[in-house]
Amino acid sequence: MTLRTRPLTVAAALLLPLAGGLLGGCGPRETTQTGAPSSTGGGGAAGKTYLIGMSQANKGEPWRQAMNDQIAAAAQGHPELNVQFADAAQNNAKQVADVENFMQQGINLLIISPNEAAPLTDVVAKAYSKGIPVILLDRKVKGDKYTMWIGADNKKIGQEAGQYVVDWCKRNGHTPCRVMEIRGLEGSSPAKDRGDGFRAGIASDPAVKIIASQNADWLREKAIPVSQAMLQANPNVDVVYAHNDPMAEAAFISAGSAHRDTSKMLFVGIDGLPTPDGGIVSVKSGRLGVTHVYPTGGKEAIDYAVQILEKKQTPPKAVVLPTVQVTKANADAVLKQFGGK
Ligand code: FRU
Repeated sequence: MTLRTRPLTVAAALLLPLAGGLLGGCGPRETTQTGAPSSTGGGGAAGKTYLIGMSQANKGEPWRQAMNDQIAAAAQGHPELNVQFADAAQNNAKQVADVENFMQQGINLLIISPNEAAPLTDVVAKAYSKGIPVILLDRKVKGDKYTMWIGADNKKIGQEAGQYVVDWCKRNGHTPCRVMEIRGLEGSSPAKDRGDGFRAGIASDPAVKIIASQNADWLREKAIPVSQAMLQANPNVDVVYAHNDPMAEAAFISAGSAHRDTSKMLFVGIDGLPTPDGGIVSVKSGRLGVTHVYPTGGKEAIDYAVQILEKKQTPPKAVVLPTVQVTKANADAVLKQFGGK
């Protein structure tokens, strides 16, 4: 089996306190997909080792890399766990193949953050029906053929973002207040929930109107041209609500290039990574007006994997992680809380 060791990234190091764990200095173990796993042998309290397949939707995004790093770091404390990572690179067919591959390897447990819900539903159900415990992280599949889901409440985050926008529009005398929305990948569950929640959050004030809504698939690179075109078509936009921080930052750049006065606009994001180029620092620097800490759940996934595999406990069907709304008023404190500087 090939073992690849690399240092703990800043994002992972900073996200660890979020899950209540601190890890000094040692780098996480990350193994490649190849190699012959074994569910027996040395290690672990009962002398058993366990193979865990972690199927990631797209490793090319900072928040997802942080999730992988957090999983690897948490697994480091459990030598009996062998976690293998697969990266679907935002490709549903590749992610289905990754899970099939894990099943062939004889994984004892599957952790998956599905790219889109519908295309991944069958393969997740297949693993579950074979008796493989399945932990869904952050994004969901259709139906209930999985062991548990761990994630934050995206509807609530969207709603809180909407309420913040209502207050900001009132405070700044914008009547009407024109909002443009940049959405995450349409078939992924957080995009729907963040969109629906936001609409519920602004419902109390008819002056706040979504005048344009486009998809940029969670990606900063895509959000640049998308936001450029949206701003050009809608010169009076007051607020940009983006479903994640990278897309909000992209819109901020586009607004600057379009010579809009960004100091008079509000840019709203979600993720709040405590890294130098993450959302909390962006709020501190005044690019984003508000973001929301969206925990990755990586450490919790390993904690529950241990419960399921070693303690033979039945976990709850859903574990909802806490979130925090971040504004200039609390950005310093939140950054400190999550280990950033
Ligand atoms: C990364 C990401 C995060 C977002 C999450 C939602 O792929 O887009 O930015 O919060 O996925 O699933």
